Amino acid sequence: MRTIPTRLESHPELRRRLCAEAKRRGGLVLPYAPLEIFVDPTNICDLRCTFCPQSNWGERQRGFMSMELFERVIAEVAVLKPRQLKLFCYGETLLHPQLPEMIHKAEETGVPVIIHTNAKRLDEEMARRILDTPLSEICFSFDTADRDLYNRMRIRSDFDRVLGNIRRFLTLRQERGASRPQVILQEIIPFAPDKPCVNTPEYRQLFDGFDVRLDVRFLHSFAGASTESQFETMRLSGTSPCHEIYHRLVIAFDGKVHACCLDPEGHNIIGDLAAGDTITSAWNSPAMQRLRHLTQTGGMGAIAPCNQCHMLHHPYQKRRRFWRRIPARLLWWWYTRSLAPPAPPTP
Ligand SMILES: C[S@@+](CC[C@H](N)C(=O)[O-])C[C@H]1O[C@@H](n2cnc3c(N)ncnc32)[C@H](O)[C@@H]1O
Ligand code: SF4
Repeated sequence: MRTIPTRLESHPELRRRLCAEAKRRGGLVLPYAPLEIFVDPTNICDLRCTFCPQSNWGERQRGFMSMELFERVIAEVAVLKPRQLKLFCYGETLLHPQLPEMIHKAEETGVPVIIHTNAKRLDEEMARRILDTPLSEICFSFDTADRDLYNRMRIRSDFDRVLGNIRRFLTLRQERGASRPQVILQEIIPFAPDKPCVNTPEYRQLFDGFDVRLDVRFLHSFAGASTESQFETMRLSGTSPCHEIYHRLVIAFDGKVHACCLDPEGHNIIGDLAAGDTITSAWNSPAMQRLRHLTQTGGMGAIAPCNQCHMLHHPYQKRRRFWRRIPARLLWWWYTRSLAPPAPPTP
């Protein structure tokens, strides 16, 4: 397995092209490391958002990642050098009591770390603790400027409290004259084929004067795990092969490696770090190769949760930009010949 040099990895379209070429070639064993790695500190959450599968788990096993497991993961991440380490996935990251320590250790690898949070627990003390870390990016899941809608979507949260938390965080960062972490504010809008995916003016106004990046996402079905019912509109015209399994993987709080960030139930487990597997072995494990084979042969319809996944129909997979037109074979040739394999991680 080879790692990707900084310049290539930092160009998102080139990176996507590389995955696309791997998909086109139908490779089951990939010669590159995952481009993004999710490490989920916890699957526990303080909210019950209507659109999130976490809210319907019932008696599912929940917990916090141990620091011992986290340090093993980070040792391997330091070697694999993914483009980004996503320190969140199925729960609320701020609930992990050792989160600031985790951020410090993860950033020491030189890999940019990003967290997503609902910001309910982002009181002044927590804001200062986060600002004291070298965190690269923080994304606030603040879905809408409509107070009533927000309170109906994010059960157990409170629009005014969360907006206040985010604004105070931004003010504290401004007072320090710091540019890090970069702040992203994510609005979620319901999917409609004729609707442009852009932030609403009311939303933009809420953060006027602050140095933030605004993002907007379509609500998706979380591969069928979410109970929201508007997703049939996403079934447009056929499917494309799954991108996720060529691109990234998830390490859950208990060390299980999930093939997909939209599979919180763990239907497709490709490895178990608690049982001695590594990220590297999981990435090309027989279970992951089977998934790649199924997506290449149109067999995803036979397995859960892929048979419910609307990301295979998602419109953003159809974008075409300049970098996408770079001859894929040339890129692949250059990539696979110019890089030395990394040293294997020490156990
Ligand atoms: C599962 S959450 C975990 C992190 C944290 N609890 C939060 O809410 O930001 C990760 C991201 O998924 C988003 N999300 C959850 N359900 C979604 C859905 N059905 N469609 C689109 N995004 C969703 C959240 O808004 C958040 O940005
Ligand atoms: S979206 Fe985030 S805050 Fe909401 S229930 Fe899911 S994990 Fe919790």
